[in-house]
Amino acid sequence: MHIAVAAAGIAPGDEVITSGITDIGTVIGVLFQSAVPVFADLEPFTGCLDPADVERKITSKTKAIIAVHLAGNPRRLGELKTIADQHKLILIEDCAQAWGALYRGKPVSSVGQISCFSLQDSKQITCGDGGIALSSDETFGPLLTKFGDKGTNRYDPKDSSTALGANYRMSELQAAFVAAQLTRLEDIVSKRSRLGALLTQELTGTPGIATHHVDKEDRCSYWFYMTRLVPEKLRCDRAQFTKALAAEGVTFSNGYIATALYGMPMFRNHSFFAGHWPIKELGLTAMDYTKVKCPVTEEILKTCMLFRLNEAMDEEYIRGVAKAVRKVAKHYAV
Ligand SMILES: Cc1ncc(COP(=O)(O)O)c(C=O)c1O
Repeated sequence: MHIAVAAAGIAPGDEVITSGITDIGTVIGVLFQSAVPVFADLEPFTGCLDPADVERKITSKTKAIIAVHLAGNPRRLGELKTIADQHKLILIEDCAQAWGALYRGKPVSSVGQISCFSLQDSKQITCGDGGIALSSDETFGPLLTKFGDKGTNRYDPKDSSTALGANYRMSELQAAFVAAQLTRLEDIVSKRSRLGALLTQELTGTPGIATHHVDKEDRCSYWFYMTRLVPEKLRCDRAQFTKALAAEGVTFSNGYIATALYGMPMFRNHSFFAGHWPIKELGLTAMDYTKVKCPVTEEILKTCMLFRLNEAMDEEYIRGVAKAVRKVAKHYAV
């Protein structure tokens, strides 16, 4: 993601609109380039960017949108691209959780100008750690290699060291692992997508439970399955619900990340760099993260429960999971 932001030419004080529910990796590069992450609110049952709020957050300083395909769900990507085009912004797809996901039948990464995938251990495919940044746009493609390789253009010394780049090179040994893993991707993701859709089917209509929305034209790769509790329909809190599920032998997480990104101490204290945020001190941004309000984002974090489905499970297992959720929901129904 750092390579993507550097290649996109994001400059100090520029703004990049993205999600508050994601891994910090989405915005590390934005911050290291001295740009400003701006958080837009999310859709309630996908956790993906709400295009209407993205539009509201655009200012004269906005340079890019990072669409995070949360859990592997490329929701409303086309609308985000239209907004990006209308405002001459670069659309970066954060596909870290979305290996094998399809938007309207096309692989994620084919809509935005630059996209990034994670190969960290827990992803659908992995080589231990690392990732891939890619572009089909000639403007950005060559810059990705350069900014991932200490600002060096190995083919053209004159084009080297014109700007600062870090070393994000991956070893050939890791790349060989990934090449092998890629041959398994379709099997892995088609299974996950089938199991996720089955879980939705089995849970639809369960009082107190909101299912993970995926457009029927798309394929979600379900890095996780996100349910949300509907508190007013239940006589228990989320911790009680997940505890009761555990007693049924089924593990759902009691939440996702502890706080939206803008609620993390380094955002609230603007203390990214040894207690400082130089661009704020220099007057290049007036951003105050203590004032950020994204009500849907916060509602999701208060009520979500994640189920880590994976391709080693089968239909019978998923039906059993759904049965346990229905049992607990029925027990606590108001
Ligand atoms: C949405 C998202 N973006 C970025 C990252 C960062 O990826 P990595 O840990 O490979 O740097 C992650 C990691 O989980 C992620 O989930």
